[in-house]
Amino acid sequence: FIAWHEPEHHVTLAAAPFFARRFANMRWSILTPGVSVHWDGAALAVADGARRSDAPDEDRLEEVWKTYYASIFNPSRLKVKAMTAEMPRKFWRNLPEAELIVPLIRTAEARSREMVAAAPTLPRAAATFTPRQDDGPAAAMASLGDVAAGLRGCRRCPLHCAATQAVPGEGAPDAPIMIVGEQPGDQEDLEGRPFVGPAGQVLDKALERVGIDRRASWLTNAVKHFKFEPRGKRRIHQSPNRAEIGQCRWWLAEEMRLVKPRLVVALGASAAFALTGRAVAVGEARGVIRPIAGEELPPLLVTVHPSYLLRLPDRARKVEEWGRFLADLRQAPAFLDALAGEVPAAGQGSPRPVGNTQRDRATAD
Ligand code: URA
Repeated sequence: FIAWHEPEHHVTLAAAPFFARRFANMRWSILTPGVSVHWDGAALAVADGARRSDAPDEDRLEEVWKTYYASIFNPSRLKVKAMTAEMPRKFWRNLPEAELIVPLIRTAEARSREMVAAAPTLPRAAATFTPRQDDGPAAAMASLGDVAAGLRGCRRCPLHCAATQAVPGEGAPDAPIMIVGEQPGDQEDLEGRPFVGPAGQVLDKALERVGIDRRASWLTNAVKHFKFEPRGKRRIHQSPNRAEIGQCRWWLAEEMRLVKPRLVVALGASAAFALTGRAVAVGEARGVIRPIAGEELPPLLVTVHPSYLLRLPDRARKVEEWGRFLADLRQAPAFLDALAGEVPAAGQGSPRPVGNTQRDRATAD
């Protein structure tokens, strides 16, 4: 490697040992008008000064260097003063990248604006995902606090790469009802709490209407990281796949073991899949409390996900589905009341009105 430089002061000999250390495994020469130094990989040799024409005209690496320089130039970190303090303009004539500096500075502001407006670039999942060999943390979790702490370091599937954080369940640690959603949404991902976004508001309203106290329940998700596709500045929800749900099931099972709910409510197909290990047709299974086959788990009530209600385009359908959602959810307190022996058994009176009542319709939105 041959460098031509015209220093303002007699610095070449003083700086040469630095370059010998910095580029120890290269063979290089620094040519200057006053003195030249050569490094052969083992020793420094000092020679007479040289002329510009002694250095080769053609530099095969120059294009590569310029490409590199332009691509690492960060327009939003532009500090012209610092740049020129480090490399005063009078030296630019010998810098191959000098021809790039002025256009890069001139376009920095516009490029910076483009970067702000552009979609975030995400790490390629394959590049950052380290699959775990084991099936989860070695030991079962001692508390729900441990579950939350463990989730922060969860690398069981690639979703942690792009999500802001894992969103653990929350609520009463001995809740009689566990409500399981699909996965955190955009807002939940940012806040680190389940059901705080638009779907959460629908759910809160429904729980209040049917007499389920959110704070006395355990709210969680089948998958604890937000899965999304960036589109412009927005992050568009993507449903988790079976493998992701399967990997996250370990956490859900731990929550279930620790909370010991008497009833589990699955909101939508992903939650139902996580709880049963099978594809569940929500439209057919909804509104009826059933045992979970083959599992030592509490009975399951399946209903739609509240975001389904938000997506319905027409008002009449919204009203109808809101009523059905409430009717489904009402099964939960009715079941717990019956369990507690507070109401007569089935056939001797209905625990609560169930269904699409006039009151439900009136406040659908
Ligand atoms: N949807 C879910 O399933 N869970 C949340 O926490 C929020 C939205």
